[in-house]
Amino acid sequence: MGNAILTRHGRSASPLPPDARASAACDRDDRRGRPHRRPPALRIVTAAERPDLVEAMRRLGASPWPEFLNRDAVVEALWRYLYELAPAYQFALLEEKSESLLAIGNCIPIRWDGDPHTLPDRGVDAVLEDGVACLREGATATAASALMIVVSPERLGQGISGWAIRAMAEVVGRHGLTELVAPVRPTHKHRYPLIPIDHYISWRREDGLPADPWMRVHERVGGQMLRPAAAAMRVTGSVAEWERWTQMAMLESGRYVIPGALVPVEIDRERGLGCYQEPACWMRHRVPGA
Ligand SMILES: CC(C)(COP(=O)(O)OP(=O)(O)OC[C@H]1O[C@@H](n2cnc3c(N)ncnc32)[C@H](O)[C@@H]1OP(=O)(O)O)[C@@H](O)C(=O)NCCC(=O)NCCS
Repeated sequence: MGNAILTRHGRSASPLPPDARASAACDRDDRRGRPHRRPPALRIVTAAERPDLVEAMRRLGASPWPEFLNRDAVVEALWRYLYELAPAYQFALLEEKSESLLAIGNCIPIRWDGDPHTLPDRGVDAVLEDGVACLREGATATAASALMIVVSPERLGQGISGWAIRAMAEVVGRHGLTELVAPVRPTHKHRYPLIPIDHYISWRREDGLPADPWMRVHERVGGQMLRPAAAAMRVTGSVAEWERWTQMAMLESGRYVIPGALVPVEIDRERGLGCYQEPACWMRHRVPGA
């Protein structure tokens, strides 16, 4: 990392408006971001507007994760309904001219009273359950939660992800919602699996921004850190399954550090089970027009 860590403490498809692009580019520089080239002209389209893109969106969304993470029981049971029940909340960022897929984002309407303390420890799992129930019951949502953003492999490292967060806030605003929260998965936490999440998310660089790159992007586009979610995702499997998912032998009970995991997995040979509880950090974003 270049800077040392020093301290612990649905409408119709629309391009991002040019003024938003310009002001965001300024924001990034103003907020001690690395200068970057002006982004290409981007178009936000939702799955409701472009059902022809859903397969490519699903494919990109499924691509970057370690095998074990797809085995979260709530995700396995409910993720598939996102595009059926809430297509106007699932979006793609397209390059305007070529229409090539730059990134996708998934979010869901939820019920939330606006109090950071009531955001669930069960992060992704909890909002997926509440969101799907809310959609099925036709209940009135009071906020939206981010679930995932994935940038196309060939466009990584070009600053697209900040635009994807802004796009998500815009999509949420289209539904008249004024709150967007996100159980953020810090992308470098896997390098520090033994560090407690509350310590890790408090790490800051010399310039004051979060040490974690993905949290840094969130904060740079206006996200406010709220608090950790201790068990944002949960994966339980037999020891044999964990051995298969990780390609590691797990011959005795104990805590195992495994590739791609943010904390160790607990293996219990006596019960034949392995359990992984992934932490995240709740962040809140301003929704345009709110
Ligand atoms: C996380 C993700 C969305 C970031 O997208 P991106 O467009 O490549 O990110 P950016 O180009 O905006 O870079 C973001 C920050 O990460 C840093 N970064 C990017 N690639 C990096 C790498 N390989 N190693 C270290 N830092 C990296 C950048 O330097 C930047 O930080 P800085 O500008 O403050 O220095 C993307 O990596 C991705 O899709 N990952 C897989 C899915 C995922 O983890 N999604 C997030 C959780 S849902």
